[in-house]
Amino acid sequence: METYLWITSVWGVYLALAVFVIGMGWRAYQWATTPKSPVRLGMFPKPATKGGRFVKMLKDTFIAPQSAHIEPKMYFFAMLFHVAALAAFVGHLRILGEYPILPALLGGEEGMNEFAAIAGSIAGAAMLIGVIYWIARRTFGPYKNLSVPEDYLLLALLFGVIIMGDHLRFVYGGTIHADTYQEWFKSLLAFKPMFPEKILAGNVGWSLGTHMLFTDLFLMYFPFSKLVHAIGSFSTNLVRSE
Ligand code: HEM
Repeated sequence: METYLWITSVWGVYLALAVFVIGMGWRAYQWATTPKSPVRLGMFPKPATKGGRFVKMLKDTFIAPQSAHIEPKMYFFAMLFHVAALAAFVGHLRILGEYPILPALLGGEEGMNEFAAIAGSIAGAAMLIGVIYWIARRTFGPYKNLSVPEDYLLLALLFGVIIMGDHLRFVYGGTIHADTYQEWFKSLLAFKPMFPEKILAGNVGWSLGTHMLFTDLFLMYFPFSKLVHAIGSFSTNLVRSE
């Protein structure tokens, strides 16, 4: 298991982060050097002021009323997924260091872990529901004909990341907490990688290693996939009201 962990959760993470950063740099370079369209691409109604355009861009990006109008069911699951993903992201930051004040408000480290267990379980379950809905949507019904292999590859990677994250949360969440994962992750950042005894002792390493294997693949593919829309959507939505 230790070799598996070194491949997926040490070297794999370094490789994935390098590919992610270089890939996103390449994307940014492409965006910056693409000539601007000589034709205005804005659609009515267009705000008259710069501030109005900025607010509309934020609304179109974060609330996406146009999607709610076109496909309400998909909109519901997409919102569920993205809100849960944001919550899980905030939760993952504990791997870098404990939040200030929050543990004191929640009754110490134990209270904080209990809160993380409840919030993480809800976020993890909601993300799983979202991704299962997307897989079903492209597997049955009319969207099947519009789907290309990339759509399924991305959903499969996401499914792998989430199901293994949920495995960590639901199977080992009662015994292994953020402080243990923190020891491993901080050692990576300090370029002195190690695994705490608690991770090596039981089967949790298999689960963490597989969560990281899918995460590594996901991060490496991200800059070259349609998921860069997460960043590109800001400028696209700005162009819409140009
Ligand atoms: C460097 C990247 C990542 C690391 C180091 C990491 C690590 C972890 C760890 C240690 C847990 C268990 C938390 C606990 O039980 O206390 C976890 C849970 C989870 N992870 Fe990740 N993960 C990463 C990226 C991702 C990504 C990209 C996603 C989804 C797109 C994801 C989704 C989840 C979910 C849904 C859970 C369960 C719910 C929760 O506890 O938040 N993870 N992750």
